[in-house]
Amino acid sequence: MKVSWAQLYNDIGECEKCRLCETRTNVVVGEGDPHARLMFIGEGPGQEEDRQGRPFVGRSGELLTRMIQAIGMERTEVYICNVVKCRPPKNRNPEPDEAAACLNYLRGQVALVRPKVVVLLGKVACQYTLNEQVFITRDHGVWRERKGVWFMPTFHPSALLRDPAKKRDAWEDFKKIRDKLKELSEA
Ligand code: URA
Repeated sequence: MKVSWAQLYNDIGECEKCRLCETRTNVVVGEGDPHARLMFIGEGPGQEEDRQGRPFVGRSGELLTRMIQAIGMERTEVYICNVVKCRPPKNRNPEPDEAAACLNYLRGQVALVRPKVVVLLGKVACQYTLNEQVFITRDHGVWRERKGVWFMPTFHPSALLRDPAKKRDAWEDFKKIRDKLKELSEA
């Protein structure tokens, strides 16, 4: 059964399904257009996201915002969320059981937004969303279609901040995203 946004916010707000609830300040559900054509999925909230209760508001968020603008869109036009809704301590990767506990919330978000294109930011987002082992350096920019939705693995913005040489490849991926949205709106 399809859940409502109100139910989803309520369930996530009260969630104690895994240990991450013990250390969170705020849950970070997601934000943006609830009917966006383009959705971004990251890994999990960092320190600033945990403090504000909003996704991608730290340094990697600033870069993500600029990349969205570079393909002619605004943050408010897309939907942004993460695999896990609570911050893993010290920004470690989510453990498989934590991601598994949170996965139904992500499924609910995808079902409600019904995006045409989903951008998976980094290996962790790919691993849990596609249920597939992805190597970003090898597999970035390659479309995967699942039930009529187009998924694009690309670099996590924090990887681009660590290694700016990767930005050129990331920009190629973003141009493919822009072109796919155009193609789908013309179809
Ligand atoms: N990194 C993520 O994966 N998600 C955020 O929301 C912020 C940083």
